[in-house]
Amino acid sequence: MSDIGPSMRAHFVKDGMKIELKPLGEVLSKSEREKVMTNPGFGKIFTEHMIMSQYDSSSGWSTPVLQPYGPLSLDPAASVLHYGQSIFEGFKAYYQQNGTIALFRPLENAKRMNQSAARLAMPSIPEDLFVSAAQALVSQDRSWVPQIRGESLYVRPLMFATEAALGVRPSSTYQFVLFASPSGSYFPKGKSFNVWLSEDYIRAAPGGTGAAKFAGNYGASLIGQKQAIDNGCDQVVWLDANEHQYLEEMSGMNICLVETNNNKICLVTPNLTGTILSGITRSSLMQISKDLGWDFSERTISVQEWKDKSISGEFSESFACGTAAVITPIREVKSKSDSWLINQGEPGPIAVRLRDYLLDIQHGVIQDSYGWLHLIP
Ligand code: COI
Repeated sequence: MSDIGPSMRAHFVKDGMKIELKPLGEVLSKSEREKVMTNPGFGKIFTEHMIMSQYDSSSGWSTPVLQPYGPLSLDPAASVLHYGQSIFEGFKAYYQQNGTIALFRPLENAKRMNQSAARLAMPSIPEDLFVSAAQALVSQDRSWVPQIRGESLYVRPLMFATEAALGVRPSSTYQFVLFASPSGSYFPKGKSFNVWLSEDYIRAAPGGTGAAKFAGNYGASLIGQKQAIDNGCDQVVWLDANEHQYLEEMSGMNICLVETNNNKICLVTPNLTGTILSGITRSSLMQISKDLGWDFSERTISVQEWKDKSISGEFSESFACGTAAVITPIREVKSKSDSWLINQGEPGPIAVRLRDYLLDIQHGVIQDSYGWLHLIP
């Protein structure tokens, strides 16, 4: 990187990866930006720049360009609009206690993006292009990273098929876009939320796309989400496709339960069978639970077991974990014929401790012994 101011640089160079910089001539003033960023919620406001790179099967990925955030132009025959080849990712940049900014585990998202790409017959994207694009954007729009604990700059990379062709086959051209959104709590009510057990629909089946961060999975989940909202809930809990008995995930986040047996604490989450997204927060919890002296178990969990052990107290807590959700306790579970409270409807101490510990790592309050933080130059 050159040492002239960000708006004057022609390129951002990191680890041999070059991003062309074409930023806005004039950005929002501090007071205008602070006004926009008050109570950001989730995914409603966007920073002033984005990064784009195009793929062509004959020439590969073009040099990424950082440019002003704005609408895209798309041919009406672009195959994403018809056949849905579209995948995305989500990760966050956190303001650090020492005044720097760091991305949390972006390489894991780059790897998962490529797993999704493989499932959707899309090209892989070089990991260093993906991570450097995020670094360049966050560096350019660093004043949009919230400084409040628990808030962050959510980075959203996506890739979709652009070839104008109506034959049903993989596109030969793709668009990669990476943009960012200052974010607070995913759940508007903040502290905890209610979930709806979907008995009418399924999200994913064996051999399907459930493990990919594929736009179609989210589109297919919306009818369940609508039922959840219509029944006073905030999220839908998906069950397995074969027997409609076992917990899977919640569309945009994984589920985790706290099993307490003879004072021994074990975090329990559904195992990855190919129908569930392999969450990066989920995998981070698997590691930090050891730091906190707790066990972690991946296994099948039936709705009946969830209910019985929530009532007996053996499952003392249940919570959502995900990049957007962070760790958010579940208050109540509802279905067409049933309902039960989790921990008498109150957030439990384990979820609160895990959230605090994770945020301490993410904000650089405690040592990042895992090498999860990537500092923004
Ligand atoms: C994330 O946590 O990054 C997600 O993908 C959730 C999103 C679909 C809102």
